[in-house]
Amino acid sequence: MNAIIGGTSLLDSSLFASWKKRYIKTPYGNVRIKAGDNTVFLQRHGSPPVPPHTINHRANILALQKVGVQKIVSINSVGSLKTSIRPGTLLIPDDFLSVWNIPAFSDTEMRFFIPQMDKPLARYLHGLCKRSGIRVKSGGVYIQTIGPRLETRAEINMLKRFGDIVGMTMASEATLSMECGIPYASLCSIDNFCNGIVKTPLTMGQIGNNVLKNLNNIECIIQILIQKDFT
Ligand code: HPA
Repeated sequence: MNAIIGGTSLLDSSLFASWKKRYIKTPYGNVRIKAGDNTVFLQRHGSPPVPPHTINHRANILALQKVGVQKIVSINSVGSLKTSIRPGTLLIPDDFLSVWNIPAFSDTEMRFFIPQMDKPLARYLHGLCKRSGIRVKSGGVYIQTIGPRLETRAEINMLKRFGDIVGMTMASEATLSMECGIPYASLCSIDNFCNGIVKTPLTMGQIGNNVLKNLNNIECIIQILIQKDFT
């Protein structure tokens, strides 16, 4: 069993329309997933959706572990910190920076581990995109901010020295998956230039339009992942 985690853009995707809703109980709360034959889909914000800073990541990842998930591919919406990484394209990060917000399952015992994005799964995802003729960049540092607001120009001016893209969810999810021993890779949807990176002022309308532009490509990759059972 493998899992796809997505955000609100995949909420009504026809890809999962016939999949069965299941509610998984965890000590952190109940999680709704949709189950296909060998893949489950988790909409990370829940229903009705909660904002990024209140997502119950621990319940989400534990629910996936409970149903026997072996690999996770997540879809994450991000802004770009580089003029060379353009909205309307995809990026597969190979590292992340999240020094403000580090969720953990081991809150009471001393357990350390070294976080590492899953290289084989990232390579596999990259190959799928390339073979499908989809523009994708392999590698890059994802910086996680807390949200729910976007960043100020001053914040982005500082962050652009340290990474390539900014989002509000992936590092927390990746950290918890790694703690559970589940390989995790992400396909990031570049939906905007971060605040102040280009002269054109950032608007929420721009972000919405680019989400839709990337959605076709993302759905195409998800469809192949499901068909090929992530291998
Ligand atoms: N910042 C943080 N999260 C995001 C952004 C952004 O610019 N775009 C999409 N998710």
